[in-house]
Amino acid sequence: MTTVLAISGSLRAGSYNTALLHAFTELAPAEVEVEILDPAELKALEPYDQDDDGEVPPPHAAVLRAKIAAADVLLIATPEYNGTLPGQLKHVIDWGSRPRGDSAALYAKPVAVVSTSPSDYGALWAGEAARKALGIAGARVLAEIDLSVGGVIAKFDAENVLVDEELRGRLTELAHQLASHHKALVG
Ligand SMILES: Cc1cc2nc3c(=O)[nH]c(=O)nc-3n(C[C@H](O)[C@H](O)[C@H](O)COP(=O)(O)O)c2cc1C
Repeated sequence: MTTVLAISGSLRAGSYNTALLHAFTELAPAEVEVEILDPAELKALEPYDQDDDGEVPPPHAAVLRAKIAAADVLLIATPEYNGTLPGQLKHVIDWGSRPRGDSAALYAKPVAVVSTSPSDYGALWAGEAARKALGIAGARVLAEIDLSVGGVIAKFDAENVLVDEELRGRLTELAHQLASHHKALVG
């Protein structure tokens, strides 16, 4: 069994990134258990403040850290806002990176990053920025997973169901990749 904590960087109800994670959950094989972080929980996450990051962290940061620590693998789906990752997703990385060193929730955590955009570029810069920050935070960024989905609107129907067969196949493959990465790690 591989447990995946899936985090969408978008807070809006009609998000394509969140819809992509729902499709991933549906397509994942039985041995991959996915929890999508509730966007309301992400919205409630306190902005990172080093002064608040003491013995007792703020409540939503504490929940987030516990969820990250409990998951075998993280899957992040990010939109691009003005050429980089959304602010709230950056707070996830910042809270996850502390306390500095091997007690941080993100330390050595396998993380896969995918990005989507209505434009042709597939939020490439946001994906790159997220991988860079995660790497600096101490996570084990899965470089072999490099999925930027451009033209995302055409890939979903009016109910935000993924109808693009190629992308459905790619997400199924991604679930197997995450499971085999975890298996190789734990032996
Ligand atoms: C503040 C803001 C900035 C944006 N900047 C970019 C950008 O730099 N590159 C891009 O491809 N799309 C940009 N977009 C468009 C988003 O890609 C689009 O709204 C997308 O659907 C957001 O992802 P979601 O569907 O998961 O919410 C921006 C949207 C907003 C609201």
